Amino acid sequence: MLSLYKLYTLLAEGTSHSPQTLSQKSGVSAFLIPHKIEQLKEMGLEVRNFKKCYRLKHSIEVLNAEVIRSYLTPLAQSFFHAIETRFMVDSTQDTLVVEVPPHNAVLFAEYQTKGRGRAGRTWVNPLGGQLAFSLLWKTKRGSEDLSGLSLVVGIAVAKTLRHQGVSNLKLKWPNDLILRGKKLGGILIDVLETESSQSVVIGVGMNLRLARTVKQDIHQPVTDLACHPLLLHNRNALAASILNTLTESLRLFESGGCEPFLQEWQSLDFLFGKAIEWKMGDTTQRGVAEGVNARGELCVRQEEAIQAIVCGDISVKALL
Ligand code: BTN
Repeated sequence: MLSLYKLYTLLAEGTSHSPQTLSQKSGVSAFLIPHKIEQLKEMGLEVRNFKKCYRLKHSIEVLNAEVIRSYLTPLAQSFFHAIETRFMVDSTQDTLVVEVPPHNAVLFAEYQTKGRGRAGRTWVNPLGGQLAFSLLWKTKRGSEDLSGLSLVVGIAVAKTLRHQGVSNLKLKWPNDLILRGKKLGGILIDVLETESSQSVVIGVGMNLRLARTVKQDIHQPVTDLACHPLLLHNRNALAASILNTLTESLRLFESGGCEPFLQEWQSLDFLFGKAIEWKMGDTTQRGVAEGVNARGELCVRQEEAIQAIVCGDISVKALL
């Protein structure tokens, strides 16, 4: 794995390398270079062969915990007790809990072999193509408040991107970041209940640049931030900006729950006023989305009644 990481960092610069230079700089035998390059391609890295040399289609700024930390505000510096970046993990959600020190720890990964989405779905995380991280956070809020946490996190990410010049970003209840009608990212909250406290693992995955073939393989329309090269070339700064906003949002959520975020949600609500359908067990229900309540539940009008849908295994889709 170390040799793959070495090759990844060399190629990430975006310049052209012969197999010999890659071998010298990485310590991998020249004979093995083509095989390792194939492995990187299988992980989703877009490597081009040109005049017997290798180069990436697009350069990538490799994630670096020290650099991320250097961009944090003083508040975030003291909030995050550990920040780690890894090349490859199963899922940052699971690795974080087992391997990284507890209390406000964050783990970023360049590649996840078993990325998890909501409702047991797979999360596709091509090498270097996303910003994917998990944050372990201990909270005093009760489980009844936690259904709204993914909204709060979504708002924090959306706000950060808006400040960085990404317009038209919306949030689709409960956890999708939507850009021009397509999924840009998602949020996954795992609740870990121990006897003494309640901890949550907040997972965020956001597409920065996805190859066309990867987009085609995903079962729903997805998009990325490829038309924002400044953001892509400053992945560490972008990661830190999200952590900075998240710090403030989590502190506010800790003291006030979802309530302080409701107005912001309204301006970002992708579903508001749309006819939607969702599955409850075997039955399909229909209604019109009317925003969220103070617990972060989705309010849906069905004839004269308003129904609140709680976070659960319910899929919501806007009808055409
Ligand atoms: C969804 O939209 O279904 C939620 C996707 C959450 C993906 C992130 S990527 C970082 C973290 N690790 C995972 O395995 N999943 C979350």
